[in-house]
Amino acid sequence: MAVDLLLGLQWGDEGKGKIVDVLTKKYNLISRFQGGPNAGHTLIFDGHKHVLHTIPSGIFHKEAINVVGNGVVIDPVIFNNEIEGLSKFDVDFKKVLLISRKAHLILPTHRLLDAASEKAKGKDKIGSTLKGIGPTYMDKTGRNGMRVGDLELDNWKEIFEKLTQKHLKMIEFYDVELDYDLDDLRTCFFNSVEKLKELTFIDSEEYLHQAIKADKKILAEGAQGSLLDVDFGTYPFVTSSNTTAAGACTGLGVAPNQIGEVYGIFKAYTTRVGSGPFPTELFDEDGATMAKVGHEFGATTGRPRRCGWLDMVALKYACQVNGVTQLNMMKADVLSGFDTLKVCTAYEYKGEVIKHFPYNIEPENVKPIYTELKGWQADLTEMTSKDQFPQELNDYVTFIEQETGIKISIVSVGPDRKQTILM
Ligand code: GDP
Ligand code: IMO
Ligand code: MG
Repeated sequence: MAVDLLLGLQWGDEGKGKIVDVLTKKYNLISRFQGGPNAGHTLIFDGHKHVLHTIPSGIFHKEAINVVGNGVVIDPVIFNNEIEGLSKFDVDFKKVLLISRKAHLILPTHRLLDAASEKAKGKDKIGSTLKGIGPTYMDKTGRNGMRVGDLELDNWKEIFEKLTQKHLKMIEFYDVELDYDLDDLRTCFFNSVEKLKELTFIDSEEYLHQAIKADKKILAEGAQGSLLDVDFGTYPFVTSSNTTAAGACTGLGVAPNQIGEVYGIFKAYTTRVGSGPFPTELFDEDGATMAKVGHEFGATTGRPRRCGWLDMVALKYACQVNGVTQLNMMKADVLSGFDTLKVCTAYEYKGEVIKHFPYNIEPENVKPIYTELKGWQADLTEMTSKDQFPQELNDYVTFIEQETGIKISIVSVGPDRKQTILM
């Protein structure tokens, strides 16, 4: 069993980047397996803050190799900006950052198509990050996509142009106004591709197969969260990839019997950015406090995140779909100061009480049923061991462990690498 997984169990932004960074010292190789620059993974250490979008979160550890797997979609322009942003860190990118030839490329016109589709949907829009994710995965499954490996062909610009022309016709179909300069977009893309070609492209499934054979320790880093999974999330308000455990197998070419630990990561409350149902969402003072104390703004788009109580129905569902073996609870510090904490343990669904996550959780059909727990007042952010935890936090942890049947192995009490308590 050589590949462990770390996956978000809610609607993304659980703190995956932070925990991958913390865990990297135990691993030889960190690999992203799906999503693309819609992700924003924040790492904070030694007074520096970094937001990574496509580069795996092991990049700051000298000994680790970082692989961008076949299931990821790459925008060369954003990718280069990320690399440039890390220039002061003396990272030997050619050596430690390897890119799958089978990963698909996000073209400038994929981004335009994303914008056109959202504009045309009006008030029903998904709330996409507008990074071109949906249109790129559509071209992948529609068997029209352009892959990283194509950039090694002499005629890659012809492939680019053919796909671009197809997209321009599709944009016309949407009949919405978009402001863009295609020549500028093309030039910027071509320049970024030349930079991308300075990195190392690999046949990643073979590379990972050899790494497993050589007993290397591999951690697969998820993006987004289980409730944004294209199959199991709150469809259609989801992303366009499988964010759950099975996505790691297809997004890396690793067989299911090679998967070891599955770290499931969740916030002690719930957030969501973009549109879509959210049964425990708060519109009151409590929600505003979570947003303020938790600095709940999207790491990629800067949009405010919607906040609400922990949803145990959804959390248990995510644990089940992913086969979670250990839980990591993030942002416990944000809940300090509440007299009472609520956890949704069932839904009133179309007049019935249910404990499973149904086909649709549209707001008119779902009302959360809460269990109340006593809150804690102590500031957790300076704590360094679980012995310092207030009893009410221990009770909150125990409650979640009993509900899910899974141990919480990490409690995070602040954004910094150091504010991580091993249980
Ligand atoms: P990711 O997409 O799952 O990597 O998460 P994001 O980086 O988008 O969002 C998590 C946010 O919470 C970031 O701003 C982190 O710096 C911050 N964060 C992570 N863990 C904690 C924690 O335990 N406490 C607090 N207060 N902030 C945290
Ligand atoms: P990380 O990896 C939170 C949301 C968007 C939108 C929906 C579809 O940082 O947790 P897309 O751009 O994929 O077409 O958007 O999914 N979304 C995220 N929300 N964290 C993310 O990534 C997200 N990536 C996409 O807000 O609702
Ligand atoms: Mg994020």
